Amino acid sequence: MFLLQLCTVVLFSTVCASNLTISVPSSAPNGSPTLSPTLFSLSIEQDTWTDWAGTQGPNTFLVNVLDNLKQRTGEPPGFRIGADSEDRTDFNPAVQFSQTVSSTPSAATPYPEAAEVVVGDGYYQVAEHLPAGTRVVWGINLRSKNTTDVTLEAASIKKAFDSAAMKAAGVALEFIEIGNEPDFYGGDAGYNASTWNVEAYVAQWTEFAATVSGTGVVVAGSGPKFFGPAFALVQHTATTFSPLGVFTAGILDSTSGSLLRTYSQHHYQCAAGEIVTDVVQKANIRSNLTQLVPDIALVRSHGLDYVLGETNSCSGHGAVNTSNVGGIAIWTLDYGLFAGQIDISRAFFHQGVGYKYNAIQPVTLTRSPIDASPLSSPLPPHVQPAYHAMLVAAEAIGNSGATTSVELDIDDNQVSGYAFYEHGKLKRAVLISHTMFFAGGTVPRGAKQISLGEGRAEAKRLFIPSADATTGLLWAGQSFDGLDGKASGNLVVEQVNLNSVKLSDTEIVLVLFN
Ligand SMILES: *[C@@H]1O[C@H](CO)[C@@H](O)[C@H](O)[C@H]1NC(C)=O
Ligand SMILES: *[C@@H]1O[C@H](CO)[C@@H](O)[C@H](O)[C@H]1NC(C)=O
Ligand SMILES: *[C@@H]1O[C@H](CO)[C@@H](O)[C@H](O)[C@H]1NC(C)=O
Ligand SMILES: *[C@@H]1O[C@H](CO)[C@@H](O)[C@H](O)[C@H]1NC(C)=O
Ligand SMILES: *[C@@H]1O[C@H](CO)[C@@H](O)[C@H](O)[C@H]1NC(C)=O
Repeated sequence: MFLLQLCTVVLFSTVCASNLTISVPSSAPNGSPTLSPTLFSLSIEQDTWTDWAGTQGPNTFLVNVLDNLKQRTGEPPGFRIGADSEDRTDFNPAVQFSQTVSSTPSAATPYPEAAEVVVGDGYYQVAEHLPAGTRVVWGINLRSKNTTDVTLEAASIKKAFDSAAMKAAGVALEFIEIGNEPDFYGGDAGYNASTWNVEAYVAQWTEFAATVSGTGVVVAGSGPKFFGPAFALVQHTATTFSPLGVFTAGILDSTSGSLLRTYSQHHYQCAAGEIVTDVVQKANIRSNLTQLVPDIALVRSHGLDYVLGETNSCSGHGAVNTSNVGGIAIWTLDYGLFAGQIDISRAFFHQGVGYKYNAIQPVTLTRSPIDASPLSSPLPPHVQPAYHAMLVAAEAIGNSGATTSVELDIDDNQVSGYAFYEHGKLKRAVLISHTMFFAGGTVPRGAKQISLGEGRAEAKRLFIPSADATTGLLWAGQSFDGLDGKASGNLVVEQVNLNSVKLSDTEIVLVLFN
């Protein structure tokens, strides 16, 4: 490695460039997967859903940051609203929007999920505040085994999405999920750990799927379908909570079960305490995702789509100084784009209010998301580092509606890259540096000169001040961290020689071919 480094003194600082040559196919290789414009989507913890959407009118900050993405891909990110609090949600027609029974914050969990959520019709209706074109997946409480609640929630969702206001807003219900992480029910809430298994789950899901179908919210023909099973664990055998397990237990065999069209797996790469340098490792991202490959193949052989219905870096709302810092933008982009390479059609990055791994903090925070301490001045709504990866991905995928992509073969464990094609023709490439540069350290920021061939092209950079920075990221020279969530500053598009594209440590470059 040392021998390959070329150091020069430029303006009193040392710049070390180790050269790397990457071959970029000029036309799409056979079998390159088509990427959904909503490959990078969002999962929302449903206890705080009305904070995201706004009750009296749209949350304009949220609408603006979603619109930034929609401008680039032509479609806003998908929304899955559900998760842990989905299974603690009850319906009461007397409630206008929602009422929550709060849990006690702690330093480890500054923004805990509510102990109970009671919702009324307005709770679902405010989805009309999302940008036009948004497709929604909504979760219904399975764990409580309460047929009344399930029926009332399903009927209220149907009423909201059938309403003239929702149709005028252009927001559509795509799927219903029944139950969140049911593989974790055992030993809790009246579920006997020794008898709660995949057969018992499929029997219970099938009964409730029939109840939900009975309301007409999920239908055969054109209209919303089922999404699930939303298992937390990655397992593979016929007797476990796994794709093979649910298919063996006959989840697709009933009339309602035949309307299960998307297999949703949950996946977090890490847990609290894990350092960003490990999370961003190219090898770790690949091994975390490739373990799913046999499951994806099985799911697709049954004609179902496969998604990560709830995912993010580290479980438990993120790890301090890992999930909330600049380095995680590197993880988010590579993780999402690599998922697209292995036939995962969408990754729903989980978000709450005040979670460390959020891409978007949709409302003002009064206690620290890091340790729950009171904030001397409240933190207004803002985007976090992960959001910038969504912006880059949105531009890389673009608005063709049929962009295909391949991972570039790069003989360097610190650099990953992908090429993007429209109508088979090379349009863009992304280069991602996995080398973490920390502010205040003794190691200077390095760079690599990368050759992608001959000729010239345009390029945009995601500038990340450092792997440990929480703010100050710039996409193509522009900041998205203002109070309104819109871009500010001048757009910077560089002209580059393809035989020497500079990629600094902890940086992302988008190359635009003519
Ligand atoms: C790196 O590339 C430059 C030209 O782009 C060349 O002059 C130099 O010799 C190369 N260095 C190494 C170590 O390959
Ligand atoms: C079932 O849900 C309904 C509606 O929320 C509620 O009134 C009822 O008490 C629940 N039943 C049980 C057994 O919790
Ligand atoms: C759970 O089920 C097992 C096997 O049927 C039974 O022996 C045990 O008593 C049950 N536990 C509880 C807490 O009901
Ligand atoms: C996933 O990545 C983490 C590092 O973030 C690593 O500790 C873990 O072993 C990886 N898991 C798999 C299944 O590759
Ligand atoms: C996170 O980083 C900040 C700033 O570098 C530091 O003060 C703090 O101790 C770190 N917290 C943890 C839990 O590592």
